[in-house]
Formats: sequence, C-alpha cells, structure tokens
Amino acid sequence: MGLPPPLAAAVIETPPSLTTVPVDLGPKSYPVRIGPGALGLLGEEILARGFRPGVRVLVVTNPDVDGPYGDRACRSLEQAGFRSERLVLEAGEDQKTPATVSRIHQAAYDLQLERGSLIVALGGGVVGDMAGFAAATWLRGIAVVQVPTTLLAMVDAAIGGKTGVNHPGGKNLIGAFHQPSLVLVDPCTLETLPPRELQAGMAEVIKYGVIADPVLFEALEGHGSLAGLGDLGPALLDRILRRSATAKARVVAADEREGSLRAILNYGHTLGHVVETLTGYRRYLHGEAVAIGMVAAGILSRELGLWNAAEEERQRQLIARTGLPLEAPPLEAEAVRECLLRDKKVRDGRVRFVLPTRIGAVELRDDVHLEAALSALMQTTPARS
Ligand code: NAD
Ligand code: GLY
Repeated sequence: MGLPPPLAAAVIETPPSLTTVPVDLGPKSYPVRIGPGALGLLGEEILARGFRPGVRVLVVTNPDVDGPYGDRACRSLEQAGFRSERLVLEAGEDQKTPATVSRIHQAAYDLQLERGSLIVALGGGVVGDMAGFAAATWLRGIAVVQVPTTLLAMVDAAIGGKTGVNHPGGKNLIGAFHQPSLVLVDPCTLETLPPRELQAGMAEVIKYGVIADPVLFEALEGHGSLAGLGDLGPALLDRILRRSATAKARVVAADEREGSLRAILNYGHTLGHVVETLTGYRRYLHGEAVAIGMVAAGILSRELGLWNAAEEERQRQLIARTGLPLEAPPLEAEAVRECLLRDKKVRDGRVRFVLPTRIGAVELRDDVHLEAALSALMQTTPARS
C-alpha cells in the first residue's frame, strides 16, 4: 500500500540539502556543494551555475564508478535538459597519461564540444586530473565540473584546479591550473569505495587537521576507530568533508598558483614521495606514503625543537587509529639521500620542508639539513624503531 498523496509528494520532492563551501577566486570562484544524494542533483546544480539546457556534456568516468553511479549522473543531466554522453576510461594511475587525455580530446572532437560545452569528471583523483586537463586544453579551455567519488578526491584533488597527467620521468609533470565551475560531493558514493582507498584519503584529512584545523583534529581524536566508513558515521563524515574542503579552499584562495602558502598542502609529501619512489609506486597508495611522511616530519619537527613530543605523539596516535602505516619499509640510506637530492626542493644540502609547530599550524622551512630529514625517515623504519 502506498503513502497517501500529500506525504508521498513530500517524500519524493524533498531535495537533499547541500552545504556550500565557497572557493573564493574572484571571477573564477565556485562552490563545493556537499551532501548525501548530491549526485541526483547534478543537472540542477549545473543549471544553477549558469549553464543552459541543451548544452553538450561529456561525462568522463571509469568502470568502477560508472557501474554504480554513471546512470544516475546522466539521468540527472538529461532531466535538467543537458545532452550527455559518457566516456568510460580504464581505471588506474597507469592510465594517467597524455595518451588517455588524447582519448578524451577525441571524444570531445567526435561530440563537437564547443566553448560553451562542459566536461564532468565522475571519479577519483585520476579521472579528475585527466578530465580537468582535457577541459583545460580543449579549445584552450572549456568548463569542467568535478564530481569526486573517493575520499581523497573529495577533500583534496577535486578542489583547487590542479589538473594533469604523468610523464615517464615523474608524476604530474604535465599539467595546467584550471579551476572547475562546480565541485559536487556526494558522500553516499563512498559506500562502494574499497576500505583501503578510504583509509588513504584519511591521511589527507589528518593533514588538514595538523596544518590548519585543530578543531577537525580534535573531532577525529574524540571519535573511536577511524578505520572504515561505518566507524566514521554520517555526522563525522559530513564534518570531515566540510572542514577539509574549507581548509583547502582557504589555502587555494590565498595562493592559487602555489607561490608559497599552497606548499603547506604538501605536508608529509616530501618524505612520503621518497617512500613511494623507493618502493616503485607499487607497495603503497599515495595516502599511505603520506601517512609515513607525516610521522617522519613529526619526528623531524620535534628534533628541531619546533613542536614537543606530546604533539608528535597525538599525530602518531591519530594516524594509527585510521589503520594507516606508521613505519617506512627498510630503506638504504644512500638511496634515500639520492632520492632527496633529485627532489626539486633541495638546495645546497638543505631541503624545503613543511613542519608542524603545533596541531593546527605549520612552518615552511628552507633550511632543513638533508641528513636530518634522512635520519627522521630512517627512525620510522622497523630496524631503527
Ligand atoms: P583513483 O582515482 O585511482 O581512485 C582509486 C580507486 O578507486 C580506483 O581504482 C578507482 O577506480 C576506484 N574508485 C573511485 N571511486 C570509487 C567509488 N566510489 N567506488 C568504487 N571504486 C571507486 O585514486 P585517488 O586516490 O582518488 O586519486 C589519486 C590521484 O589524484 C593521483 O593521480 C594524484 O596525483 C591525484 N591528486 C591530485 C590532486 C590535485 O590537486 N589535482 C591532489 C591529490 C591527488
Ligand atoms: N594537493 C596539493 C595541492 O592541491 O596543491
């Protein structure tokens, strides 16, 4: 038996309410819209950004995401009057190449995408970076809407306009800044995300707590286990998404092109990158390596007298509660040294580092001795710990 008409109408017509986090970049400003069910509002949200019905939309995605969410996204677009087509790419970081972007360009050509057309990136950071770069370069730049479906992309990759692909010589060497017109975050899409990917995203969330948001850090500390979606629960997840997006938006608004401040978003990344490189990018997800990098940066910061052992321990405990790794694998000191020396951040034996001074604040230092950084990372390896 169905519900009586007035109530049925109320149930069906009550739209999910979305929270807005503004990214304030003058004429390039855009909102991050967050809320359960947001995906079903994709078409409406794009109309609200000033796009007209009839505009052609190319949805770029991959099979992991297309399966559960592709139809819903395209239905919403069609209902709002857009003409949508889908391009389903293979999943994986190894697909993040100029050749795959050429496939997106070819689809744009086949569909005759014009200056007023739109690309929707429906997926994790890999899809977002590639679709964003294709949008940045097609006809010298058409609009892109980011619909992130991993925690990492929701809190980091989809916001801020960094787009690009990998070169055999290194990650993200080819790219462009191209801000999206809208970022639409539907936390319900995390239900199908593999737990390990969710954990990896938590590393970036903890990063925001350490670099900028002690309230977020304390909210995470005050919660029980943080290892899975069920542990987080909807209220904390909503807070994580809003506060992380706010932290990223503030940094990007202050320094869009990474003149200086934006570099604080690389907290944990310098030594994390060493771990990723020396393990051939196969053993660790990016967020897992960042977690190890943050533990090592915490040691370094204590050894340099920038923060105390208690704060370092708080960071370590929080990372441990997510199930992320705390220790680097056994590493050869000489290999670490070489890897750091190859890093663009080294000058005269000194490494550029983002180091915490307390929970919620960091300093950008240009004067960290390479040997001190090496020693901090080696202290996280099992042989030394
Ligand atoms: P990813 O895009 O590879 O996604 C991880 C895996 O999860 C993939 O297999 C994907 O197919 C799958 N997946 C995605 N959403 C899913 C869902 N809802 N359900 C089931 N499976 C799903 O990885 P990522 O961690 O999202 O992004 C990493 C990439 O982001 C890297 O290439 C990195 O360089 C880039 N990145 C960019 C920025 C930026 O500012 N542009 C910032 C951080 C990272
Ligand atoms: N993920 C680092 C940045 O967006 O600058």
